[in-house]
Amino acid sequence: MKIEVEISGETQLYGIFGYPVKHSKSPQFQTSAFSYLNIPAVYLPFEVKPEDLEKAVQSIKVLNIKGVNITVPHKEEVIKYLNELSEEVKYIKACNTIKNIDGYLIGYNTDAEGFIRGLKELEPNLEGKNILVLGAGGASRAVVYALLKEGVNKIYQANRTLEKVFKIIEDFKSLTKFADEIIIPIPYDKIECCVLPSVDIIINTTSVGLHEDDKPLFDYSKIQPKHIVVDIIYKKTPLLKAAEEKGCKYQDGLPMLLYQGAKAFEIWTGKEAPVEIMREVLLK
Ligand code: ATR
Repeated sequence: MKIEVEISGETQLYGIFGYPVKHSKSPQFQTSAFSYLNIPAVYLPFEVKPEDLEKAVQSIKVLNIKGVNITVPHKEEVIKYLNELSEEVKYIKACNTIKNIDGYLIGYNTDAEGFIRGLKELEPNLEGKNILVLGAGGASRAVVYALLKEGVNKIYQANRTLEKVFKIIEDFKSLTKFADEIIIPIPYDKIECCVLPSVDIIINTTSVGLHEDDKPLFDYSKIQPKHIVVDIIYKKTPLLKAAEEKGCKYQDGLPMLLYQGAKAFEIWTGKEAPVEIMREVLLK
C-alpha cells in the first residue's frame, strides 16, 4: 500500500527495535496512522543486535526519537535501560513501547490491552468466564495479566514445565490476592478430560501451530462449538482450523497486533488511533 508522507525539517521519528525486524508490519500501519491524522511523522524499522541494545536505547535520546516499539528478542532486556515503568511492564516483565519525553524514557506494555481489545470483538463480557491458556512464556504473562484485570473466574494454564505457571501465580499475587485460586496449573494431558468441559474460551500463547508439522498441544477434535478460540499467532493455525470446523467463534493474532499498535500510537500522540485505517493496511 502506498502511504504518502510529506517530509520536512519538522518530521518526527518513531520506530521499532527488533532482531530480526524485516518481517514487521508496524512501520506500514503506524506510518499510515500518522499520515491519516496529518501528524508529521515517520516510523522506521531498526535491526538492533542484542549486544547493541543499550546503545540503541541511548540513541532514542540522542536522536530525539519520539517513540519506539520493542519486539523480539529485546522486550525483557530493554527494561533496565528505562527511567520509568508502567504497572503493566512491572507485572508482565516485558516492555513493547517506549515514550521519550525530553530524554526521559517511559516503558509501557500494550500487549495486554491489545489482546483484550481484540478478544472483546468476540466476547465483550469477560467477567466470570473460565479460560484455558496454553503456554506460560512471556506472551502468556500479558494475556493472564489482562484476564485477571477483567475479573475472569478461572484461568487453567497449561505448560510443559508447570514451574513457569507457579512463578506467574507468585508474581501476580500482588495484583490480586486470589491469584492462586484463579490460576490453576494444568498438564496438557488433563485438558480433554478435566478442563475443556468447563471452559468458555481457549487461548494459545505458544508458538505451536506456526509450522504445519507442529505436534498439536491436545486433541483439537475435542473442541466444542460453545468454545471461543483465540490464537495469538497471526495465521490460521491447526487449532483455529479445528475451531472453524466445529463452528466456534475464533480469532487469530491480527486483532492483538492491531490494538497493541493502536494503544502505542495513543500513548505517543495522545490521539485516538485510526484503527480501521490501520486494520486495512494490516490486511493488505
Ligand atoms: P513468548 O515470549 O513468545 O511467550 P517464550 O517465553 O519462549 O516465548 O515462551 C514460549 C512458550 O511456548 C512456552 O510456554 C513454551 O513451553 P515451555 O515453557 O514448556 O517450554 C511453549 N512452547 C514452545 N514450543 C512448544 C512445544 N513444541 N510444545 C509445547 N509448548 C511449547
